[in-house]
Amino acid sequence: MNGHLVAALRGAKSVFVLTGSGISAESGLPTFRGVGGLWRTHRVEELASPEGFARDPILVWTWYNERKAAHERAQPNAGHLALGQLEMAFDDFTLATQNVDSLHLRAGSRKVLELHGSLREARCTNCTARRPLSAAGLPRDEIDHSCGGRWRPDIVWFGESLPHDVWQKAQEAAARADVILVVGTSAVVYPAAALATNYNRAAFVAEINPETTPISNRVACALRGPAAEVLPQIVDSSLRRRG
Ligand code: OAD
Repeated sequence: MNGHLVAALRGAKSVFVLTGSGISAESGLPTFRGVGGLWRTHRVEELASPEGFARDPILVWTWYNERKAAHERAQPNAGHLALGQLEMAFDDFTLATQNVDSLHLRAGSRKVLELHGSLREARCTNCTARRPLSAAGLPRDEIDHSCGGRWRPDIVWFGESLPHDVWQKAQEAAARADVILVVGTSAVVYPAAALATNYNRAAFVAEINPETTPISNRVACALRGPAAEVLPQIVDSSLRRRG
């Protein structure tokens, strides 16, 4: 365990965590860019862009319905649970996730900013209507909305902006944090990746990832291991020492 990180957490007033798909890997959900990753076998522009959806909404919904079903089958792992526990030790704690799988919420985290939306709801392409998604997602014969628009997943696709208030809160939380944990993300998708190191030069930044990433040479400490192993150790050690 990295003693500097434990000491930084012990003395921290404000903690910011950025997570990506790697934190859900040990819950059985694939990442995007790793071996067996979703973007290795699927075309991102077909499945995760407004243009792809306009071209073939059935293809897009078939894929998201499969992902939704996988999210429902998955269980939060020890990494998600450790972050839920960490949150309770700080008045000022923010978890910004790029994940749309809801596993942080299911693990008990409450101060969660979902940067890329979630698969809990669909929203209309044309009006402000929203509807919850069942475990099976959206039935194919219900893609058209009565207003003339179409139901789409409540996800931020490539080429789209992040929800303004969510992004604003994430930036502010990253800027005031004493400790930033960057967990299970390749840190290549912007603007989310910028939260790790671009808004705060004073924070103690720790990366938890079995692999190196483009931000690895800018962090104070890199813990090379799976999140479900490393996070419980960090949280146990730092909370024990906080008393
Ligand atoms: P990536 O697939 O790009 O990166 C996953 C990261 O998790 C890699 O750096 C892996 O090394 C790491 N990893 C793998 N197993 C791990 C484990 N057990 N514990 C910790 N880390 C592990 O996924 P993201 O960074 O989440 O956006 O991708 C960012 C965005 O790109 C996603 O939100 C998604 C995607 O396109 C949209 O769909 C809008």
